[in-house]
Amino acid sequence: MKIGFYNIQGGTGKTTVAANFAYILSQSVKTVLIDCDIYGGTTALLFDLEDKEHNLNTYLSGESTIDEIIYNYDDLAVIPTEVSSKVFGYKADISRFENLINILEEEYDVIVYDFPPNITEDNPLIGYVGEFELVNKVVIVGEDSVPSIVNSLKSMDLIRDLDIGFTGIIVNKYRGLTDITEIIEDVIGILPYDPNVERQWVESSPIANIKTKFTKELTKLTNELASIYLEKDLASLRALKLAKAISGITEEEKSEEETEFKDLE
Ligand SMILES: Nc1ncnc2c1ncn2[C@@H]1O[C@H](COP(=O)(O)OP(=O)(O)OP(=O)(O)O)[C@@H](O)[C@H]1O
Ligand SMILES: [Mg+2]
Repeated sequence: MKIGFYNIQGGTGKTTVAANFAYILSQSVKTVLIDCDIYGGTTALLFDLEDKEHNLNTYLSGESTIDEIIYNYDDLAVIPTEVSSKVFGYKADISRFENLINILEEEYDVIVYDFPPNITEDNPLIGYVGEFELVNKVVIVGEDSVPSIVNSLKSMDLIRDLDIGFTGIIVNKYRGLTDITEIIEDVIGILPYDPNVERQWVESSPIANIKTKFTKELTKLTNELASIYLEKDLASLRALKLAKAISGITEEEKSEEETEFKDLE
C-alpha cells in the first residue's frame, strides 16, 4: 500500500497524522515514512534527525544514496528532509523519486507519504500524475473550521480530478466547531483537538508514544484503515511480532546459559 496525506491548506496536521499513523503501523508491518516537503518538511524534528547529513533533499540532488537517507526510529523507517535554510541551495531532480519508490516497494509493506500543501511540480503528488503510480490512496487531513472544510472539499476535488485514489477526509483538531454533516459521506475519521499533541515537537518523539486522547483515536483509525486496505489485523500481527521477539530473547538467553555452562565445564 502507498498512502499519502494531503491538503492544499497548510498546518492542518498532515505531518502529525502521517508520522503517527506510520509509527503505529510500523509496530505490526514493515513501514517507511517519507517526508515529501523538500522546502518546509518537519519530520526530522519529530524523530530527532535534524542534524543528519543525508536526507531527501541530498538524495534528489544526487549527493546521497537511498541507504544513506533511511533512518530507523524504533520499528519505523524514516526519510526526512533538510530543515535548515540549506533547502534553498539544492537542485532537486524529482525524477530520482521514481527510483526511490521502486526500491522501497520491494522492501516495505506500506509507504506513507507526508505531502506538502502546494500544487507545484516539485510536490511529488502533482509531479507524478499520470506517469508513474506513486500513490494509490490519498487521505485529506483537514481542520474543524468553515474555511478548512472548504479547503478539504477543494483538495478532494483536486485529487479526484487528477484521478488519484481518493480515500476520504480526516477532520483533525476536532472541537465540534462546525457542522460536518454536509461532508459526512467523505469523512473517514475524526481526531480530537488535543493540546498534548504539541509535546511531540519538544520531546522529538511521536505523540503515539504517549497515551493521549489523540493517540487513542488515531490508533483506532489506523487499525480500521489497515483492515480495509491492507486486509490485515494489526492487533494480532503485533501480538505475533511480540511473541517472536520474546521467544527470540529466550533462545538468546538459552544459548548464553549454555555457553556459561560450557565455560564452567
Ligand atoms: N489533533 C491535534 N490537536 C492539537 N494540535 C494539533 C493536532 N494535530 C496537529 N496539531 C498541531 O498543529 C500544528 C500543525 O501540525 P502539522 O505540522 O502536523 O501540520 P501540517 O499540515 O503538516 O503543516 P504543513 O502544511 O506546514 O506541513 C502543529 O503545531 C501540531 O502539533
Ligand atoms: Mg507538514
